[in-house]
Amino acid sequence: MSATRILVCVAWPYASGDRHLGHVAGAYLPPDIFARYHRLAGHRVLMVSGSDTHGTPITVRAAQEGVTPAEIVARYHARFVQSFKDLGLSFDLFTHTDTQNHWDVTHELFHNHLANGYIYRDRQQQPFCVIDGRFLADRYIEGTCPICGYADARGDQCDNCGNTLDPIDLIRPRCKICGRSEIEIRETEHFFFDLAKASPHLAAWLNDGRKDHWRPAVINYARQQAESGELRGRAITRDIDWGINVPVPGWEHKVIYVWYDAVIGYFSATREVCALMGNPEGWREWWLDPATRSYYFIGKDNIPFHTIIWPAMLIGDGRGLNLPYDVPANEYLNIEDRKISTSRRWTIDLPDFLSRYDPDPLRYVLTINAPETRDVNFTWDEFVRRNNDELVATWGNLVNRTLGFAYSRFDARVPAPGPLDESDRALLAASEAAFAEVGAELEAVRLKLALTKAMDLAHAANRYLNEKAPWAQIKTDPTAAATTVYVTLQVIDRLKVLLNPFLPFTTQRLHHFLGYDGDIFGRLYVDEVTDARGTRPVLRYDGSQIEARWEPTELRPGQPLRQPAPLYRKLDPEVVEAERQRLLARLGLSGDGG
Ligand code: MF3
Ligand code: ZN
Repeated sequence: MSATRILVCVAWPYASGDRHLGHVAGAYLPPDIFARYHRLAGHRVLMVSGSDTHGTPITVRAAQEGVTPAEIVARYHARFVQSFKDLGLSFDLFTHTDTQNHWDVTHELFHNHLANGYIYRDRQQQPFCVIDGRFLADRYIEGTCPICGYADARGDQCDNCGNTLDPIDLIRPRCKICGRSEIEIRETEHFFFDLAKASPHLAAWLNDGRKDHWRPAVINYARQQAESGELRGRAITRDIDWGINVPVPGWEHKVIYVWYDAVIGYFSATREVCALMGNPEGWREWWLDPATRSYYFIGKDNIPFHTIIWPAMLIGDGRGLNLPYDVPANEYLNIEDRKISTSRRWTIDLPDFLSRYDPDPLRYVLTINAPETRDVNFTWDEFVRRNNDELVATWGNLVNRTLGFAYSRFDARVPAPGPLDESDRALLAASEAAFAEVGAELEAVRLKLALTKAMDLAHAANRYLNEKAPWAQIKTDPTAAATTVYVTLQVIDRLKVLLNPFLPFTTQRLHHFLGYDGDIFGRLYVDEVTDARGTRPVLRYDGSQIEARWEPTELRPGQPLRQPAPLYRKLDPEVVEAERQRLLARLGLSGDGG
């Protein structure tokens, strides 16, 4: 069986503010779970992303702080690298878009689009601030959303209804720089990407009979757009001075639009990581072999860019680059019944969370209640309850009791079993079957259901252990007690693999307690890369030492065990009130996130 190639593409975060739990649940944690599973299943995986360093999100933030855009980028990129490593996100490469490679690859697509007639020049009406003497692109202008009436819509997108907007359609527009409304409409020249030209190709691809695995909200949106007959040209250059240059003489004072270059990051980062691995041509099998499957992990606000614009850009490139195999976009995560808002500071940032809590409980709670098909709610009450009831009391306690008992009563070794009875065999059979059952859900990107099924096995093992009660058996029938402990350890060893994609840190510790050596699930590290545009930290993953397989393990009787310690910390219920107060204290304070 030849290994399937799985390209895991992760939304590129703007380097203008920390990621919050909504981003983590929607776009960052799911691809990691998915990638870890596929690596265990023996498939070839490449998981790539990086900081999105261009556009008005960066320059607006820089202006607010009175620093340069480059300083903003360096700060938040470094924070992403650190917090993603702390959360265990196994990026083969997390880079950024201000690299020589990314500039070159962006220019390469631009030239291909131009040569293939997908890019053309046109004149456009744009808002112009008379006070500041400049065009107001994207986030430099705010006003009332023409679609839903939200008062603080930005020029490029409304955060309330999610629609992408054209700045000249805003009602009662105001300039983000001076705050005034002395705005005129003036004409400016831009390059445009011809979505209309791509639309028949998009419609054919979206109806090729191979989209049954797509989430209904995603495929319905994409088909509706592609078949609407309303796709038009979209400007892909801007009148600002921060971004990738337009590679055409006479265009030195304009830059490429951030969304045009950001989506190209999936392709350029593949080229970068293949080059870093010493195989500069290696990207071809990831992008030109139609057997490679590419998955795009994003929040629902990014659906238009990944189901219409990026596929149209891939088509227009003309080399036959692979179109997305799936775009498993997620819905939103609310916090304590309110929509997350960075500007109102109703948010929990990832680095802040990880400064007080361990990564695995967060990974658990955000997955067991994942926003896969509807918006979900994160509450501190639920976080503490699930940590204490499910991780500590169910899974952690199963591990603790069994390993502790084997360690103290069976000479710190896996005991040899006696004859197996029906319930022993039933539990072992369930633990074997779980690999296919949980694996099928992971393949289909139903991560919440996959985790639920793995936890069902932990519940079953707990029930089995309570019924058998080896601590009583050992007094009358030591062989029966040995059998029970053997069977339970076997199932724990298998749950270690089944839960590893979700809980990589604690299952690795468990692996060690079970007597194995080494770092079998791979290693995440921060590297530094220098090119013509400068030096930057990048996050890398090294899976070359991976030994574990997505298949039932066989723990040998006699294998020495190590002294166990609790895998999870019980949280004091007072945490709930303290964290709510912390959130409320932030509310309404100044700050304007990215
Ligand atoms: N930077 C965008 C955001 O944070 C996402 C870009 S995704 C990519 O919303 F596809 F463009 F890379
Ligand atoms: Zn709106």
